[in-house]
Amino acid sequence: MTSPAALAKQHVEETQQVLREYILRTRPGGVKGYDHDALCDLLEVDDPSRVIFEQGRGRQAVVRVFPVNPLAKMRAITLEDLVMDENGCIRIGSYYDGEPLRMRVHDPETGNAQRIIIFGTTGAGKSRALQAFLAACKRNGIVVHLADLKGGQSVPEAKGNVATHVRTLNEAMGLLRAAVKKAEDRFNRYADMGRSGFLINNPDRLEYVVIDEANRLLEKGSPFRAEAARLIKELGRTGRSVGIGIVLAAQAGHLDELGGSDTLRAMLKEGEVILLRWSSQMMASLVGDGLLPSGEFLQPIPKILGRARRIQRWGTPVDRSAEKPNSQGMCYHLTSARPTSMARFFLIGSLAPHDGYDPEIRKLYGSNAPPGEALRLIFPPPKEGGADSDDDFEYDVDDEDDLERLPETPKTNTDRILDALADGPLSEQDLLATLDEDGGKEVKRGSIRTTISNLRREGKIAPKDASGLITLG
Ligand SMILES: Nc1ncnc2c1ncn2[C@@H]1O[C@H](COP(=O)(O)OP(=O)(O)O)[C@@H](O)[C@H]1O
Ligand SMILES: [Mg+2]
Repeated sequence: MTSPAALAKQHVEETQQVLREYILRTRPGGVKGYDHDALCDLLEVDDPSRVIFEQGRGRQAVVRVFPVNPLAKMRAITLEDLVMDENGCIRIGSYYDGEPLRMRVHDPETGNAQRIIIFGTTGAGKSRALQAFLAACKRNGIVVHLADLKGGQSVPEAKGNVATHVRTLNEAMGLLRAAVKKAEDRFNRYADMGRSGFLINNPDRLEYVVIDEANRLLEKGSPFRAEAARLIKELGRTGRSVGIGIVLAAQAGHLDELGGSDTLRAMLKEGEVILLRWSSQMMASLVGDGLLPSGEFLQPIPKILGRARRIQRWGTPVDRSAEKPNSQGMCYHLTSARPTSMARFFLIGSLAPHDGYDPEIRKLYGSNAPPGEALRLIFPPPKEGGADSDDDFEYDVDDEDDLERLPETPKTNTDRILDALADGPLSEQDLLATLDEDGGKEVKRGSIRTTISNLRREGKIAPKDASGLITLG
């Protein structure tokens, strides 16, 4: 069988005859500005997507004119593409000259988990790119905790194919808190073992927190903006060296919309940044935010490939047949060795919408169970008199020891609560979770609250304090 790389090369050779090639050099001082449309006018090419501009080193740039945009037709992604190579990378697409576009999932040299952010405007192809990453994780034994904040609609096929799957902002916060806690636990455990880094699958698996539509959590007006930014930053810092990475897909005009610029900026600089089609105001801010070095210029990604600019005569009907966007998945991998080379993701699933799950995407995931265990989401105790924010909360057993402690005779709720607290203070949520798993009768929050009030009156539980935790008296 021909390897995917050979297939890509063959495809490129067949479709990408270069018609003309120009090497541009600037005067000392470098490129001051770059206007793709003006360049196309100069070259007398009426379809701007046929002209590929790539800034080279120093004062040099290459311009190539193709018969059609070389990325116009992509092959479908294969299962081989999704297998991690010796550098911990998967193949997710190709550059315009046929070189594979890689995404790093794991760094075998340092052991580090990655921090990846995928930016782009709506419909640019962020969620499809995530699906490839998610499927690759499943195929490579990497655990994924996913928040799909468009109510689960952005990456529907991921359901059942990831260890944790949540859909609301509130649950996403519970997920982030739990992931940060897990990272801290690993950190302490590794420190006790005298380990300085992460060893994949020895004994812990590599894990990723993946948030699609992360802007919904981080934008101004989000009730969780500050805490989410803090937790993501924390995960970016602590998680990386203990094998818990983070992947965000976001639509944002400015990093300020993502929880304040310095939160993510530091994280992104060392992470992987992929930029899909952007909106007009995004570019200046990406440079301003330091994601794109100033002096580097990116050829714009058009919404529609292969469209010539035409003037419209009065009275002639407008032909709208060629106005469907067809550049989805075109991108720049800003933190790769080729930040200014146009690239594109392979075809991931079908272009036509599906009534139900996309079978092509389901095939990428495979039908076995996903690796890892669901995170037990963490919620702060509800405020006094406030609404319960946790009604739809699901617990997952992740403490096997608890299963060993089945009581011989049914205990009273009072005893169960005091036993649960013997190991240290708990939030109401955690207390309920512990009681749910101690093998006793099912508990109701109302009756537990009453028992706790009684125990407080008896002095067996400490009075409420600012921490909101329930502590033995
Ligand atoms: N890599 C891809 N392969 C096939 N189709 C794609 C790809 N990327 C995007 N598309 C098409 O574009 C649509 C929008 O992509 P999506 O990933 O949902 O965009 P975003 O998440 O950026 O809003 C998809 O429904 C699909 O039809
Ligand atoms: Mg999306």
